[in-house]
Formats: sequence, structure tokens, C-alpha cells
Amino acid sequence: SFSVHYASFFPHLLAAQRKQIDAVLAPFLLSLDTLREVKNKMRAELEYGLKRETQASATVKMLPTYVCGTPDGTESGKFLALDLGGTNFRVLLVKIRSGRRRSVQMYNKIFAIPLEIMQGTGEELFDHIVQCIADFLEYMGIKGARLPLGFTFSFPCRQGTLVGWTKGFKATDCEGEDVVDMLREAIRRRNEFDLDIVAVVNDTVGTMMTCGYEDPNCEIGLIAGTGSNVCYMEDMKNIEIVEGNEGKMCINTEWGGFGDNGCIDNIRTKYDKQVDEGSLNAGKQRYEKMTSGMYLGEIVRQILIDLTKQGLLFRGQISESLRKRGIFETKFLSQIESDRLALLQVRRILQQLGLDSTCEDSIIVKEVCGAVSRRAAQLCGAGLAAIVEKKRENRGVEHLQITVGVDGTLYKLHPHFSRVLQETVRELAPQCDVTFMLSEDGSGKGAALITAVAKRLHNIGRKRGLIDKYLYAMRLSDETLIDIMARFRREMKNGLSRDFNPTATVKMLPTFVRSIPDGSEKGDFIALDLGGSYFRILRVKVSHEKKQTVQMESEIYNTPEDIIHGSGTRLFDHVAECLGDFMEKQQIKDKKLPVGFTFSFPCRQSKLDEGVLITWTKRFKASGVEGADVVKLLNKAIKKRGDYDADIMAVVNDTVGTMMTCGFDDQRCEVGLIIGTGTNACYMEEMRHIDLVEGDEGRMCINTEWGAFGDDGSLEDIRTEFDREIDRGSLNPGKQLFEKMVSGLYMGELVRLILVKMAKEGLLFEGRITPELLTKGKFETKHVSAIEKSKEGLNKAKEILTRLGVEPSHEDCVAVQHVCTIVSFRSANLVASTLGAILNQLRDNKGVGRLRTTVGVDGSLYKMHPQYARRLHKTTRRLVPDSDVRFLLSESGSGKGAAMVTAVAYRLSEQHRDNLFAFFLGYPPQLDKRLQGYRL
Ligand code: G6P
Ligand code: G6P
Ligand code: BGC
Ligand code: BGC
Repeated sequence: SFSVHYASFFPHLLAAQRKQIDAVLAPFLLSLDTLREVKNKMRAELEYGLKRETQASATVKMLPTYVCGTPDGTESGKFLALDLGGTNFRVLLVKIRSGRRRSVQMYNKIFAIPLEIMQGTGEELFDHIVQCIADFLEYMGIKGARLPLGFTFSFPCRQGTLVGWTKGFKATDCEGEDVVDMLREAIRRRNEFDLDIVAVVNDTVGTMMTCGYEDPNCEIGLIAGTGSNVCYMEDMKNIEIVEGNEGKMCINTEWGGFGDNGCIDNIRTKYDKQVDEGSLNAGKQRYEKMTSGMYLGEIVRQILIDLTKQGLLFRGQISESLRKRGIFETKFLSQIESDRLALLQVRRILQQLGLDSTCEDSIIVKEVCGAVSRRAAQLCGAGLAAIVEKKRENRGVEHLQITVGVDGTLYKLHPHFSRVLQETVRELAPQCDVTFMLSEDGSGKGAALITAVAKRLHNIGRKRGLIDKYLYAMRLSDETLIDIMARFRREMKNGLSRDFNPTATVKMLPTFVRSIPDGSEKGDFIALDLGGSYFRILRVKVSHEKKQTVQMESEIYNTPEDIIHGSGTRLFDHVAECLGDFMEKQQIKDKKLPVGFTFSFPCRQSKLDEGVLITWTKRFKASGVEGADVVKLLNKAIKKRGDYDADIMAVVNDTVGTMMTCGFDDQRCEVGLIIGTGTNACYMEEMRHIDLVEGDEGRMCINTEWGAFGDDGSLEDIRTEFDREIDRGSLNPGKQLFEKMVSGLYMGELVRLILVKMAKEGLLFEGRITPELLTKGKFETKHVSAIEKSKEGLNKAKEILTRLGVEPSHEDCVAVQHVCTIVSFRSANLVASTLGAILNQLRDNKGVGRLRTTVGVDGSLYKMHPQYARRLHKTTRRLVPDSDVRFLLSESGSGKGAAMVTAVAYRLSEQHRDNLFAFFLGYPPQLDKRLQGYRL
């Protein structure tokens, strides 16, 4: 102990004196057990502060700060910061740069706050603060700029209002008042400049943020300075007085109030009580008064007075100086205790303070200082041990690695405080590996960072709200979706009925496909797949060795724009040429394989191998094809070549191909859905509901061609100006209006049009509009998908927008992401409502209370967009609650399904031949019942 140390070095200290001094300092020696007890008590008080029932009376107030994360490096901008409550009052200008060259530049000026202002009226105090700001703005030459301001205000605040002054402040009319209001009013009173006060921050939080900018593991902020306090990131679920369970929030513990209920009175000495009584806030902040710089000197002074009274010091004379409160500032304490100082120098310091001391006196003073500061460091360490232990338990780990950001003159300047503090934490929280990180730039930097975050969140929140309002018409309520579902159900009815079909917009085309694959299909087929993103030719071999297996090989061919927009003859010549090439490659040019033709456009069929194109959709517009049978056109083109032969057995819509592909794996599949370049669905309808086809038995697949939903004006109430613009610029104005709100060919363009308009109105990119942004097709649906990725989405947005030359800010990126979400979400919602109508129809057809079914799905939008599928599934299940719907992704496109249909058609044609043969032999034709409807 200190006493032994000094006694042995200075034997001239009398044994009797020694004993008396030891007795005085004994209560300052805390055993490990006592410190453990302090830790446990602190821990209990932390819990009281967090719990709803005990929180009001808790001495450790555990104030929520609404700071929910540490800076992530994306903060940027110019900020003002005020730093009030520590040794110095400071005004700062902080410039933060984000990105790869992220950096923080600071300029600051220290201003004095005279005692009479600290303890005068609130108005005087805040007027003084504003005076200092004015000086600083003048000095920096930035008086005109209305900068955002962060205010480090190192006193307990609950939601912005001052709970109570601490330390050396006691200005009137402030407690219970809103700090921002007081500052704002003072700025108004001065009427010279304006500021945008964004955040009020405790110094602990500022410190945690300052350090968190360098080390993301920093989740605790400690101040050991004029005052004492700690903040840390607490799990939201433990903060009972704040709504929400997700994530974390920084809690300002205000642990200075620990002990105000008497729970550590057992270790408080009479000197502590004297210090408390002489303070500005008697009875309060008892722990702070044992641990922080403002009071340690005072404790020392009380002890010195006592020792003097006992005749052990200063020749028994209590001088004027010794009577003066506050003479022992932290810096003197630090100097006196410095081991580098010779005793003579200690004496000189005491003399400076007006304490005329002997050499012996200085030894004793130094000893007293040591005992007091050591106890402070140990108590502070015990408190911190409670915090890190709590963090460890929160994380549920055996060992915790954590960084504590620290600031404060006591910690920084005192020769022993930080070491003893760290030793104590290590001793009392052995399972925690605590790194102490000194905040080099004070909490002003942290306050600016928080201001940047708050400003960003505020701006983003505002912008989001603005976009929501802006795109209000695109955000469809469930009520609207249910209404759309009902409308589409009516359209389906019309399309199916003989009387209304001719004028129906949703054409409900019979496909002559009567069932999904039954597992008996086999053979060697070719499938053409035209109309989606790719033109593909496939060879599909279905074999039966014990189990049905499918082997596929495929080739993708180009469909240049001049061909799909040229003459129909040229288009089919091209298709025939590609088919020839494929057969060449497959070395089957001499064979006449059955061909299935996935042709993803609306075709009227009267049998499987006939398809009269009603209208081109999507990217296609070849002349002379509408109204013609595409099978005939293709046959003609093949004949014209004469180098190979093909037997086109079936024309299949991609929805049907998809349903068949998925039906191969799941017998329950009875809906085929495409959300790709275009959108459409087919499903198995009861024959008795299909007026256009003879017969009432069994079912037939209906290609709804729902893309045309709304072409009669029935969706005008939900179409926006952007939808109309898309339509005007399309190849088929006035047609496929539903498809244009939903599918991939249009989605990127929809977003682009919205961005252009928002930029024009100054809501994005600071109004910058570039030629790229104005170019049709420059924003693609795949970009929407990239931007909506949850992790890298914002980076992608930055990349994509930068390529468009608009120099997006972080907020712009967030805003554009939000626009994408609204547009893609609307698409998923619309599909959910039309799909919902089909599901309802199926359920009613089956006469069951609950529908169990599978929807086969394909299409680039559904497959590539990161959120689309989940949203569609969710909304569908919400709109049709009495159903169990399985969504099955078609892994191999609709080519495989087309082959399945071809297989059946092929078998039928063979059977047909057999039947004809039988007929001639006088047998009655025996058609497979399941295949009866295939008209050949
Ligand atoms: C920080 C801050 C101050 C804070 C202080 C504590 O760096 O910027 O506002 O109150 O440290 O230290 P002090 O010893 O000055 O009270
Ligand atoms: C399927 C098909 C295509 C179809 C496409 C829709 O897999 O094989 O023919 O049109 O999906 O998707 P897309 O996004 O290419 O339009
Ligand atoms: C205040 C705290 C502050 C601490 C350190 C205390 O007196 O109540 O809000 O963090 O001093 O400056
Ligand atoms: C066509 C449909 C097709 C859908 C998906 C629409 O434009 O009209 O026949 O199923 O796109 O490819």
C-alpha cells in the first residue's frame, strides 16, 4: 500500500503520525470483495432502469438515446457541433467525407463560460452560447450557410429535455425544458443567423461514435472527466420503455446517479458526504462524486482539512486557500501524483495553490491524492465491469471481445487512473476482453457523425414519405386488389361465354390440351421456343427405362430487331433456317422428328397444330402474320428450303408449356404462370364452362391472355400517367395494358420515366437530367432487380445511376431503390390479384372449401428479381386465404412442356392412323378416353 511505501522511504515520518494518516485513508482502500459487490449492485440498478415498472424510480436512469447504430462510413457533409459540459466549451466545424477517401476534418475554437453564466439564468447561458457560435461563424467566414448542427450536451436528457444539471452548471429555468428549443430561441433572439439543429447528443454517445467510426466493435462510451458516465448499445428487446424488439439502441446510463438511493452508503466516507453537501446538487450523483475529476480534488481538500485539524499537516493552520472550494482541479491532482515529479515540484504546486507546505506535507498530500484517485478508478472499473458483463450476457457468449471508447481529462491526464481502471475491469470481468480506445478528437466529431446519420435518416424518411405520396397511385391497398380480383373474374366469365367472347378483352383461348402429362409420354422431339427473352431450339428425348427420364439439348438463336420487325415471311424463313442449322448440328436432318412449337403470343386454336395469331405483343411486330396460322407459315418456310422435313404437331403457349413442364413433376399442377418479358397465365377449366368448344366432359387448358386485361378501359382507375406514357411509346398502343403495368419488358422503363419526372421536379439528383437518363431503354428491368438486392442494392444503384451520369447522392440511391420497390411490388400485387381470380375459379369449379393446387411459374422477372417471388406468394395467400398454393418454378423452360404436348399429339396421330386402319377393317374406333378431345 501507499503508506508502507512512503513510510519506508521517509522514515522521519513519525510512527504516531503514520497511524493517524492510515486511519483517515483506510476507508479508501477497497477490497476485491467490496468492488465485486459494487459491480453487482450496479448491475442490479442497470436492470431497474431498463424495466418499465422500476424505471421511474431508478437512480441509474438508462435514458434511451434513439441512436440505433454506429456510423457506417457513408456519412458525409459539413456540420457544426457544440460541445458543452466538460472542461471546455467548444464550437466546431466538422467536414465528413464518405467513400473510399473517407475522412473527417475539424476546426474548433474553445470559449470560456464564466461561472456567473454557468449558474445564472438559462437565457443568459444560451445567449452566451449563441454569442460564441456567432463569433465562430464569423471567424470561419461561414455566417451565411445554414448548416446542420449537432449539440454535445453532457447532461442527462430524456427525449431532448434536461432532466437535471450536474457538475458545475446550475442555470435557472432549464430543467424540464427542451434543449433544442432553448438553443433555437436564443438563435432567434439574436436574429443574426440560422441553424438547422438536428441532434442533441450526450458526450458518452459522442465518444462512442467517434471511436466507432474507427472500430465497429466499439459499443460502449465512457467518460471519466469532470463528470462520470457510460453509454452502451443495448438490445431493443431489453429496453422496455421503447417500442420495438429489433436491433439495438444506445442507452445513456447516467450512472453518476448510482447510489443516490443509499445503496453504496456503506463505502461512502464522511469526506464524500461533505463534498456532496457542499455541491450544487446535494444528494445527487453520489457515484459521480466519488469517481470524477470535478470532485476528487474536493475530497482531497476535505481530507486535508481534517488532517490539518488533527495537526498532521500545514502546521495545523487551515489557510484561506485550503478553505476555497475547487482549488484542486483535476490537472493539479494529476500533476501531484505524477511519479516523474520530484517532491520539490509537488511542493511548488502546492505553493502555487497557496498552500504553504513542508516537504513532509507534500508527501502526505501526494499520499491522500493517491488514495482518492485510486478508489475512483477502482469504483469506475467496477461499474464498467457490470456493463461489459451485461453486454456479454446479451450476446450469449462465453467470451466477449469489445471496445470501449473513452474520453475525459481524468482518464487522459491522470498518471494512474486509466491503468487502475483497466486492471479492475480485468479482475472483475475476466471473461471479457476489453480494448480501451481513447477518443482523440473529443465527442464533437461523434456529434457531427450522429448529426450526419440523423440528417440522412431524416432526409431519407422525408424522401421516402415524399415518394410514397408521389407514387401513391402505385401503392395498391388490399381492398383495391380484391376489387381487381373480382373484375378479372368477370373478365374470365365473359371470355368463356359464347355471347360475350367476341367482345371480351381477356380472350380465354381454348388450347386443346386436356390434361397434364401422365408419365406415359415418350419419344424424340424437337421444340421451338419463340417469344420470350430467347429464341431457343431444343431436342427433347423422353425415354422409359423403369422410370420416365427426359434428356434435353438446346441452342439459343438470335432474333435481330430487323427480323422481328420486318416481314412475316422473313421471320419464318429465319426460324426455318435456325431449325435447319439445329438439325444439322444434331445430325437429324434426314429424320422427320415431331416438332412442338412454343409460340408465346395469343393464338386462336381450333386444334393442337393450328394457331392463328390474334395480335403481336411484346417486342414482336412482323408484318403479315396477324390473322394467319403460324404453323402454316412455318411449314411453308420449311418446304421452301427443301433441305429437311418437319412435322409440326402442336402450337403451345409458353404458359401451357410451363404448366406441362411443372405438371411432369407435380401432378397437382393446373395453372401455368409467366412473369417475364410478358405476362400471362393458363389453367385447367371445366369443359362445361367453355362455350367455344363442343362437349361438357373433362377439362381443357385455357390460355387466358390476361395481358390484355384493361384494354377496354376497365383498369383506368389504377393506371398512372407513367403507364400511359409507356403505352404511347410501345409497339402496340392501347393493347396489353395490364401486361404493361406488370411485365419485365416495361418495368425498367416505368422506373426510368418516374425518375425523369422526379428529377425534373428537383426531387432527385439535385435536378440533374442527363441525355442517358432521357434515353428510352437505358434503365432495364435487370437493373430494378439489382437495385432491390438487400445487401448490395444501394451500391448497385450508385453504379447504375452513375453510369446514367446523374451523380447520385446516398439519399438519391435510397430513393431510387424505393421507387423500384414500389413499381415491382405493384407488379407482384397485380399478378396476385389476377392469379387469385383463377384460384377462386378453380376452387369453385371443384366445389371444395379449401383449394390445394400447384402453380407452375416461369419468366425472367419472377426468376431474377430478388423479392418478387416472395411478395407474389405472400400477397396471393393473403388474397385467397382458403387455399394452399404451391408455386413450382419451371426449371427447364416451356420447351419440355411443349414436347410433352407433342408426345401426346404424336401418339394420337399414330392412334388415329391405327384407328383409321381399324375402321377400314370394320372395328369401331377405340379412342383413349383421356385423349378424346384432341382434335386432329
Ligand atoms: C469529451 C468531450 C466533452 C466531454 C469531455 C469529458 O471529449 O468533447 O464534451 O464532456 O470529453 O471530459 P472533461 O474531462 O472535459 O469533462
Ligand atoms: C419460358 C419459356 C419462354 C417463355 C419464358 C418467359 O421458360 O421457355 O419461351 O416465354 O419462359 O420468360 P421471359 O422472361 O424469357 O419472357
Ligand atoms: C452528466 C452526464 C455526462 C457526464 C460526463 C455527468 O455529470 O450527467 O450526462 O455524460 O457527466 O460528462
Ligand atoms: C403473350 C402471351 C404470353 C406472355 C408471356 C404475352 O405478351 O400475349 O401469349 O404467354 O406474353 O410470354
